[in-house]
Amino acid sequence: MKRINIAIDGHSSCGKGTLAKQLASALGYKFIDSGAMYRAVTLYVLRMDVDPENDDAVHSVLPQISIDFVVNNATGRSDVCLNGENVEKEIRTLRIANSVSQIARIPSVRRFLVMLQQKMGADKGVVMDGRDIGTVVFPDAELKIFMTANPEVRALRRFNELTENGIKTTYEEVLANLKQRDHIDSSRSDSPLTMTSDYRLLDNSDLSREEQFSQALKWVEEALGNKI
Ligand code: CDP
Repeated sequence: MKRINIAIDGHSSCGKGTLAKQLASALGYKFIDSGAMYRAVTLYVLRMDVDPENDDAVHSVLPQISIDFVVNNATGRSDVCLNGENVEKEIRTLRIANSVSQIARIPSVRRFLVMLQQKMGADKGVVMDGRDIGTVVFPDAELKIFMTANPEVRALRRFNELTENGIKTTYEEVLANLKQRDHIDSSRSDSPLTMTSDYRLLDNSDLSREEQFSQALKWVEEALGNKI
């Protein structure tokens, strides 16, 4: 059967990962969270006391970093590993969220991770979410979805998710962080978050998980149908 790559890009905390996981499990595809890779690089940079504003210093530690994913037997999901250490939990903290967009704007970081991501999708059958997946990583992806929702809805969802996972924060702090990341991600010079005309727009401010999933599945069917 024909396999395609699906790119899901969009703003911070709008449920890209949730949709990507739903699609990957329905289709038997691999889900790859590209944001987790940027977060893992950020964790390494902070652990090494490298200044995230210093592009050359960040660039110089990249050869020390290896990133891959392992299946977590308890959750059945893929966890990100930094130099062999499972860091899935640690990369979700606000400390990482507050620096990740700074690291992700550095061109050598992007080249390093994009190369890895392209290898992961070389055989098709991948659902990857991020900011530049349909524009840079897989420009020829058969289906590109751009997700968004209003910032207050997104902040509330992320706040609830963090709180459920035992991470102490406030709604205001989460809202400020996501607005700041949206700004940096959309205005950076290297592969900014942009919606080109080949994307399908999915605003899920007022959609349930089931509704967004069924909309996306229709697009998948179209993409598969068009390609057979
Ligand atoms: O899940 P959330 O929307 O909070 O963000 P994420 O997907 O974990 O990504 C964290 C950050 O990594 C983003 O705010 C971007 O700065 C960066 N990123 C990127 O630049 N390009 C990607 N393909 C994925 C993430």
